[in-house]
Amino acid sequence: MDKKLFQFPKDFVWGAATASYQIEGGWNEDGKGESIWDRFSHTPGKVQDGDTGDAACDHYHRWADDLNLMKELDLKAYRLSISWPRILPAGRGGVNETGIDFYSRMIDRLLELNIEPYITLYHWDLPQKLQDEGGWASRSVVDAFVEYTDAISNALGDRVKNWITLNEPWVSAFIGYREGRHAPGHTDMHEALAASHHLLLAHGLSVPVIRRNSPNANVGITLNLSPQVPASPSVADRVQATWADGYINRWFLDPLVGRGYPQDMVNDYRDEMEFVKTGDMDVMSVPVDFIGVNYYTRNIARSEKISEAENAPCTVIRGDEITEMDWEVYPEGLYKTLGRLYFDYDFPAIYVTENGAAFVDEVGADGEVDDPARLSYIKRHLEQVHRAVEAGIPVKGYFAWSLMDNFEWGFGYSKRFGLIHVNYETQKRTFKSSAKWYRQAIQRNAVD
Ligand code: FCB
Repeated sequence: MDKKLFQFPKDFVWGAATASYQIEGGWNEDGKGESIWDRFSHTPGKVQDGDTGDAACDHYHRWADDLNLMKELDLKAYRLSISWPRILPAGRGGVNETGIDFYSRMIDRLLELNIEPYITLYHWDLPQKLQDEGGWASRSVVDAFVEYTDAISNALGDRVKNWITLNEPWVSAFIGYREGRHAPGHTDMHEALAASHHLLLAHGLSVPVIRRNSPNANVGITLNLSPQVPASPSVADRVQATWADGYINRWFLDPLVGRGYPQDMVNDYRDEMEFVKTGDMDVMSVPVDFIGVNYYTRNIARSEKISEAENAPCTVIRGDEITEMDWEVYPEGLYKTLGRLYFDYDFPAIYVTENGAAFVDEVGADGEVDDPARLSYIKRHLEQVHRAVEAGIPVKGYFAWSLMDNFEWGFGYSKRFGLIHVNYETQKRTFKSSAKWYRQAIQRNAVD
């Protein structure tokens, strides 16, 4: 039997993504200021094995070679993030021209190679100086973000036409300020809620600034989204799933489309939310050109209030294919998420701005890195993207996470997500078999 070929639309964008702190290194070079991730990773006990992003993939020095690797991969697009403290070392006031030049040269070279840049303005490396005044929990940081947006979009806006204001504000706010597993490592729900509000406000205020500095640009925001599925049809599990959906998905989606914060969550949080000022909700619901979604897995919601004895056995069972992050492989969740963004939230265009998997990789005796599990993960998720396109959902592109192995936040270098393997001792890069497969998919504009 012939294998089915999933052919993508002609203008489909095939890309890969990275983030500044995870790959650059050069943490204190050429006038760069300290970020909250520098501070956090330098604090003993915060990151696994004491790893830091001080050197990371040394992309700060090797970027030109890395861009050549992207070309070898035949990437059509590259999603990178800008390090705010490289541009404004103190968070505001005083632009570091060397920082601007670094990205400006990279953009020129990308365009020369015919690789379309997609820039994320904030992928979690807040200038430490701004954290000293409260970080995202403080409203004053919003203006600083707008100042930073203005500086960088003014410098690059003539050439960069795709902009993402924030990466996963849920993670910034709730993992950074409530759960404490990410910088700045706080555990305060009120701060987390204030942070989420200020992040969305910063997004809303920056969109028009980018549009002014970068005519005809596409401007959007990236959220981490995942379906929250009740483990059983019991009321308790359904309530739990609705709560989890509110916590992770709706808290950001609803205000972005002008529906305000979900009332069930506002009631549940019992927070005064005095940080919400008149007009804020209008600002954050400024229309975007696209929504970016980072999708990795689903969550099966099980209420603590329930037990098998209460006669609610699980009807939704976690699959047995699990990544190194302990995430269930569930490609269909991507299709469902894309459908929701279009049919329920009406976003005009959607990009999968991240999707990928961590598995243990080894360089074989022959020097090859064979990673069939990752290859299969990416392939099956792309099939779901294709299914969404066929259903009329405007998915415009897909960015694999990640171009290369890198610093995986609290897990340090212990989790490898790359299409390209990185030896952290020698900085040698090796294409994994998933990378070679991905190149073929790009060249054929199809997956089989
Ligand atoms: C996402 C982040 C990205 C990477 C992947 C695995 O939440 O945006 O930087 O860490 O997870």
